[in-house]
Amino acid sequence: MSIRARLGLARAWAGARSGAALPARALVGAGVGRRMLATVTSPAETGKSPTGVVFMNMGGPSKLDEVYDFLYRLFADGDLIPLGRFQEPLAKFIAFRRTPTIKHHYDEIGGGSPIRKWSELQAAETCKRLDELSPQTAPHKPYVAFRYANPLTEHTLEQMKADGVRRAIAFTQYPQYSCSTTGSSLNELAKVSKRLDPEGSIKWSVIDRWPTHKGLAQTFASNIRDQLETYPEAERKDVVLLFSAHSLPMSVVNRGDPYPAEVAATVWAVMEELGFSNPYRLVWQSQVGPSPWLGANTAKVVESYIERDQKNLVLVPIAFTSDHIETLHELDLEMIRDLGVPTVRRAESLNGHPMFIEALTDLVLQHLREDKLHTHQYTLRCPMCKSAACGESREFFANQ
Ligand code: FES
Repeated sequence: MSIRARLGLARAWAGARSGAALPARALVGAGVGRRMLATVTSPAETGKSPTGVVFMNMGGPSKLDEVYDFLYRLFADGDLIPLGRFQEPLAKFIAFRRTPTIKHHYDEIGGGSPIRKWSELQAAETCKRLDELSPQTAPHKPYVAFRYANPLTEHTLEQMKADGVRRAIAFTQYPQYSCSTTGSSLNELAKVSKRLDPEGSIKWSVIDRWPTHKGLAQTFASNIRDQLETYPEAERKDVVLLFSAHSLPMSVVNRGDPYPAEVAATVWAVMEELGFSNPYRLVWQSQVGPSPWLGANTAKVVESYIERDQKNLVLVPIAFTSDHIETLHELDLEMIRDLGVPTVRRAESLNGHPMFIEALTDLVLQHLREDKLHTHQYTLRCPMCKSAACGESREFFANQ
């Protein structure tokens, strides 16, 4: 299905939803940084080379026969799952062992992950809006770079070079920064760039986190309100909101990873949008293996509340911007379907929501206007970080 056709579906889906408009700031594209104008669009220098807007995420297998490769890359990533000097053989072994089960899970959600479809749509729509709002930096060309699935970072970079991109924005699609997610993607981008673009023909800057962006919080709030409307009015204000984020091993948390604090910041921003209308908790899902992970565990929290007769629960996936196996399988099937309690429900993911596209556009416009290489926070490494790659990637992005 073409991007245009998918967009049509997304618009139809989103059109049924309510939503206040983003602030006027979101629609103002005139304030683009001077350095950017000079370096990006001076026809004499660049011949209208496109501004690459690269949506970075972990990715997922679009087809069942991509599952093994996806799992292997995932477990081979020491930034995500540190397995020491046996990382590679262990990654092969674990991927081999888990492939049949994970394939079955993807089969149950339609034969693959929708994350590529949503990422391509979000990137294309964002660039379309950027062309309208920021002609100075147009054309804006959308790219997707995944850490563990196609299109991989290295293939996207090759395509960008072939397209004549000289200025690019690495735009993380994890709103909250973790060294396991955004950090890993940026480490990979820096490494691959040094190999495939040693002359540094592409100048990069980074949107490395955006946990409290107004449009992000507004879109979450809109989807939550829509789900709350499905409960009887007399019960609505007492429905418990369970904001669920992917957990982290405690070894990563104790290394000083900023993710738990940034996820909590998003939850707070969303609750402010809602006027703190409902009781809520932040909970953590997808823990695996015997080592300790950050909790409370989403499934156990849901079971515990049901046992206490608190059955009106709305799950809100708060740390991903589109549907993926952790929403469609872990929340929708393993928890909601298998529990069989009809008042346990889930807020929609952000996917192609028009408010979310405006939020993404606003983030890039702000970034262009501020003309920064990255946030100030990005430069500070975790206090217990021992990864050489973390230092090398910061040096790479500081020298753009
Ligand atoms: Fe956080 Fe290296 S692990 S900066």
